[in-house]
Amino acid sequence: MTTTMQELHRKKQMSRKITMLTCYDYPTAVLQDKAGLDVIFVGDSLGTNELGYERETSVTLGEIVHHLKAVRRGVQEAYLLADLPYKTYDDPGMAMITARELLSHGADGVKLEGMQEAVISHLAGSGIEVCAHLGYNPQFHEKAAVKGKTYDAARALLESAVSLQNAGASMIVLELIPEELGKAITETLTIPTIGIGAGRYTDGQVLIVHDMLGLTPHPLRHAKNYANAGEWMLQAFRAYAEEVTNGQFPQPANARTMIDSERERFMG
Ligand code: KIV
Ligand code: NA
Repeated sequence: MTTTMQELHRKKQMSRKITMLTCYDYPTAVLQDKAGLDVIFVGDSLGTNELGYERETSVTLGEIVHHLKAVRRGVQEAYLLADLPYKTYDDPGMAMITARELLSHGADGVKLEGMQEAVISHLAGSGIEVCAHLGYNPQFHEKAAVKGKTYDAARALLESAVSLQNAGASMIVLELIPEELGKAITETLTIPTIGIGAGRYTDGQVLIVHDMLGLTPHPLRHAKNYANAGEWMLQAFRAYAEEVTNGQFPQPANARTMIDSERERFMG
């Protein structure tokens, strides 16, 4: 049985935390699903973390679909969310085409950034589950910065969150906002809030998988390294290169041999 949006809402009602991570490939999806993550998310952070782009805005719909298909093959239990990339939801009609493309490749719901009330109400009106995304919006803000630090900015973000819920959003990601605002939005909304750099009180947390695995070169304040995968990988690559270079790998145990009688004939 796969996780439904209703179950995520029930978690909020029961004050049980929602767990979410980004994911861009099949083996990672299998492991995240096995670990019991509630939401597995193909974000457009695909671009900066997996494809080597400078900005999320370079990610195309085709690229999201390509990775979504791989992740879909690995997810059995979790709710599978996918990002609408930059410039693929300029108006409600365009957003509908994009969202349907992601759903047709196995997304359970879609996420988009900013104050897109018309788009959200159009998608939600035809039964599509939409996750909103406020605070720092990588598709629209040049630099990563905390949003809502002043009274006025915080009030505006709180009102925006309410508007997006009213427009029909099923869930909302809050990125880089003060903890006090994360708490206020979470207490005001009936839909689940998922924080990243939004403090302790949101209904759930999301991290970029590369950040929490230690694959990102520079540690980030909002994230935590649960592993040092980057260090392990580097050590493994170096050890392999060294062993191949000096003839330690492969060993006879790693090699395949011919049938004895055939070998004699073959070797002469
Ligand atoms: O694409 C992404 O990884 C995101 C998260 C920061 C929520 O949108
Ligand atoms: Na994103």
